[in-house]
Amino acid sequence: RTVYVNGEYVPENEAKISIFDRAFLMADGVYEVTSVLGGKLIDFEGHNRRLERSLSELDIKKPAVYDDLLEIHRELVRVNEVEDGLVYLQITRGSDGDRDFVFPDPETTEPGVVLFTQNKPGLADSPVAKKGIKIISIEDVRWGRRDIKTVQLLYPSMGKMMAKKAGADDAWMVQDGAVTEGTSNNAYIIKGNKIITRALSNDILHGITRAAVLRFAREAQMQVEERNFSIDEAKDADEAFVTSASTFVMPVVEIDGVALGDGTPGSRALRLREIYLDESR
Ligand code: PDD
Repeated sequence: RTVYVNGEYVPENEAKISIFDRAFLMADGVYEVTSVLGGKLIDFEGHNRRLERSLSELDIKKPAVYDDLLEIHRELVRVNEVEDGLVYLQITRGSDGDRDFVFPDPETTEPGVVLFTQNKPGLADSPVAKKGIKIISIEDVRWGRRDIKTVQLLYPSMGKMMAKKAGADDAWMVQDGAVTEGTSNNAYIIKGNKIITRALSNDILHGITRAAVLRFAREAQMQVEERNFSIDEAKDADEAFVTSASTFVMPVVEIDGVALGDGTPGSRALRLREIYLDESR
């Protein structure tokens, strides 16, 4: 695999970053994951706008190569022959060659930029989508700025492990009795013709897939209610699903051991998946 590191395309085993990079020492960096279907980047513009916002909220300056990011995405997809898969992009505050809680001087410190691809043949036809996923609920103990896509992913990663240990696939996080989001996706329930998902705030990531899916749902005459819901309400729903750039629309068939409906993916979730894939490709 060829990867991109601070201005250079290099084989992955030759890529080097400083041990003082603040993303490594302090999780001081942001990232984006953009999916690739049939060699085409899905919603690069949306991811790019969120990236710009994440950088600005953390006062990380735009790297010199900022305007070339689309070109770098395309070049990596090309050289690595990615038909279906993902492009991972990370921008860090960089380093001035030492460890310090105080930010380095942005005048003299260039942000770190790393991109790599992941090949995932058949990403859109995942057999998992036909079966649906089981989720457990866990407490949301993350920091209060989840709208910023930082690389602090330890708790989401632990949540995924708690789910696996419990024989499930993923976890939904709960704060003050209401579901915030999944470990790496936004969470939804469906009751009748109504899709219910938490409203945007600092409590959740403003999913790029979420924005597209809610738009398509409204166009398909489904009602959308952006409000809090509890795990009890979710267990009692007709259907549930999650969305993310890497899983698109993924049906949820079980919550904390309780099957939704007949325990198979719901028809509306599957329909939304189909619409999303058709419209984005
Ligand atoms: N995760 N919520 C969280 C906490 C996420 O990490 C993600 C994405 C989403 C969905 O956002 P989007 O639709 O823009 O991908 C919601 C990516 C895919 C990841 O970490 O791999």
